[in-house]
Formats: sequence, structure tokens, C-alpha cells
Amino acid sequence: METFKTIIEPFRIKMVETISVTNLEQRKKYLTAAHNNPFLLDSDKVMIDFLTDSGTSAMSANQWAGIMQGDESYAGSSSWNKMFAAINHLTGHEFVLPVHQGRAGERILYGYLGGKGKTFISNTHFDTTRANIEFSGAEAIDIPIEEGKNPALYHPFKGNMDVVELEKLINEKGAKNVSAVILTVTNNSGGGQPVSMENARAVSAICKKYKVNFFLDCCRVAENSYFIKLREKGFENKTYEEIAQEMFALTDGSVMSAKKDALVNMGGFISLKDEAMALACKNLLIITEGFATYGGLSGRDMEAIAIGLKEVFEPDYLHYRISSTTFLGTKLKEMGVPLMWPIGGHAVYIDAKALYSHIPVDQYPGQALVCELYLAGGIRTVEIGSVMFGKYDDQGKLIPANMELVRLAIPRRVYTQSHIEYVIEVFEKLMKNRDNVKGVKITEEPLFLRHFTSKFERL
Ligand code: F0G
Repeated sequence: METFKTIIEPFRIKMVETISVTNLEQRKKYLTAAHNNPFLLDSDKVMIDFLTDSGTSAMSANQWAGIMQGDESYAGSSSWNKMFAAINHLTGHEFVLPVHQGRAGERILYGYLGGKGKTFISNTHFDTTRANIEFSGAEAIDIPIEEGKNPALYHPFKGNMDVVELEKLINEKGAKNVSAVILTVTNNSGGGQPVSMENARAVSAICKKYKVNFFLDCCRVAENSYFIKLREKGFENKTYEEIAQEMFALTDGSVMSAKKDALVNMGGFISLKDEAMALACKNLLIITEGFATYGGLSGRDMEAIAIGLKEVFEPDYLHYRISSTTFLGTKLKEMGVPLMWPIGGHAVYIDAKALYSHIPVDQYPGQALVCELYLAGGIRTVEIGSVMFGKYDDQGKLIPANMELVRLAIPRRVYTQSHIEYVIEVFEKLMKNRDNVKGVKITEEPLFLRHFTSKFERL
């Protein structure tokens, strides 16, 4: 095979969206007006938007062409038939329900299976997954492998689930009380780290033994397949799609936020093997999302999903995608920026506690870095640390999160190599000034999900 040092973006740009280039003076003003919380910034004040990879993909010419063919019929839309066929081909699951985004699927499926006294077990539940499970009255337990909890340690499949702990927990809780085991691929909350096929097989075998449902939270399943082909023995000659199909075949169903690896701006689905479960979910779908052949989506959205689910498995696309994230992370690591290692699929996670070791956790080193990245380069990121997960004890003292991370989530097919190089240059500046950075203080905060709307003062 021909190899080159430079991996090009395997696309040309047909339509552009202007980035308004700002200067430091302007950004100081904008950030102050946004109370030092970039969630409160208008997007036209942002130069590089790494807030999320969700719903931020650039669609292809084929997807836009598909959109023009969207069949907006209430029932039996041909666009739904295409979306169904694409998902059925990928998952092998017979029953598919469209939903408007991942969490709608979670609410329906986990709401139906959950309730008081029930348990869900995952490598790591994403925050909306956990919220929907807990809202039903059930508990959500995370059991990533030990290696997955250590940011600096190398392991090829840090997203794996601890299968010894899984079997122990099922016995402890009683199999009939365990509503489902959920593998999140890749493991977003654990650093976008992949799960191996070997681990999925082991989880599947345990679930079969105890007759417990096994589902995939599969919103980044193509990225996960890339890592399996690259790092797991026996998969070198399989296609990325075959690898994903093999993983789905181990499961009883899946929930997908199509806003990630289906390369669209809105959408999702539930896929299931069991007819009775599918029927119960379908009834809930019709009450809250829409009829079973559109579930809260326009016909045009369903066309774009059907096409995106094929495009995402193209080898050149996946190679560029993961290489680009790895390039950014590796360069930052070489500069001495402490981060989650190895680099995951969709994002680079900076260890802000290690970067700004002089800032105490109750002055939120992650939020300080979020502010610095915006001020220095107009880069928008999100804190995943004590702003997001911190709680207070009875005395009002902060109980910090386990880690103080900042996520640089990279939208799909949106930014080019020079954007990435610009981000690296911004970090070079930040590294020179790291000892002078001060923490932040929360001046106003909501009861829940405080990272979205809290206001901060820079100390
Ligand atoms: N599961 C995982 C692993 C996710 O990363 C997300 C969303 C969801 C479920 C929920 O999907 O947003 O379509 O309702 N993650 C986004 C993020 C929000 O920024 O990581 P949704």
C-alpha cells in the first residue's frame, strides 16, 4: 500500500461557512458578557467550535441531494424505508424505531425497562443515559476496567467493561433485577476510548448466561470499529462495517444518537431483536415522538441518516477522521500538555488538574482552561470536571469530580488541517503562560447541569 506522511481530508469543499476572525480585545469583551461561560456565547463569536461533535457534522453532497428527495408522508414514507434498510443491514436487528435524537430513544427503552429496584450496568453511562435511567427510578452503575480510570496509562481498549465485576454485580443484584447491560462504543465519558470485540463477546456471553438484555450505545460505532481493525488481532482483513455488524450481532438491541456517526445534524433510533419489547416501545414512541415511520424526524432527515450510515464506514473517511484527532492529541502530548492517553476517536481530553496544578479544584482549573482557550484563540471547549459533576456537602464545601478534564470534541468533516495546526499554536502560547493562570469562582448556578448556565468570575 502507498503511504504518505500527510493524510489529506478526503473531500473537497463545495460550500463554506464564514468564521468571523476576532482579536483578543473583542474576545475579552465577549467572554465577560458571557459571564466566562462559553456555553453562553453566540456561535458567531467562536472561531473554532470544539464544544461537541454531536449534530455538528458537515453533510456530503449526496446527503444534501437525498434531502431534496425526502418523503414527508405521515405514514409509510419511502425515506423511512431507506433508513430502516440501512439500520437493519448494519445491526441485523429486525425491529427499528426512529427517534429525534439519542436521549429520546433512551427515555423510551430505558424508561420501559427501568423503574424502582432495577439496575443498569455499563462501561460508562453517558450523562443523558444515566439521567433517563435514574428518572425511571432505576440505578445506573459504571464498571469500566481499572486502566480506563487512569488518564496517563496506555491501554489499547480503555473503553472495555470489567467483566469480572459484571458477573459479580449480576449475582449480587439478581439477574431478574438487571434491566440491561449497556456497552457505550466508543466510551464518550471515559475519554472516547474504544471497546474491543473480545470484551463485547465476553459481555455478551455473560448476558446470555444470565438472560440479561445486552444493548449497544452505538453513536460512535464506526470510530470504534476503526480501532478494532487497527489494534485487535484477527480483524486486519475485515471491513469497518463488517466489524460493526459483528458487534451488533452479539447484542439484543441498540440505541443510537445519529448526530455522531450517522453524519447528520439531527436524528436517532432504537433497534431491537425482541418483538414484544419493540411493540411496547413503539406504543411509547407514538405517544411522545411520532408515528412509527418517522418518530419525530422529517423525511429528509431520514434520507440523510440512511446515506450517512454508509458514508461513515468509508475507509478513507475513517482514516482521516481518527488520524486528525490523533494528530492533534499527539502534538499536544509532545509539547508536554497533560492529557488522556491514548487519544480517543472523537475528542482530545486535557487533564486541567495536571496542567494548572497550582489552581485548587474549588477554583475549577478546567473552567480556567476553557476561558484561556477562548481568550487566546477563540476556541470553544467544555469542562468535564467539578463544574459539570461537582456536588456540595452539608457545609457547602465542594465535593470535586474524580478528574478535571477539558474536552476538545472535533466535528466531523468540518475543520481542516490548518484549523488543527492553529489550535496547536494556541496551546503553545498557553503553555508559556501556564503558571500565571488563575482559577474561577462561581457567582450564579442552577440546581442541575450547572455547566450549561452557571456564571463565573475570573480570580
Ligand atoms: N450516548 C452517548 C455516548 C452520547 O455521547 C450522547 C450525546 C448521547 C448518548 C445522547 O445523544 O445528544 O442525541 O440525545 N453526546 C453529546 C456530546 C451531547 O456532546 O457528547 P443525543
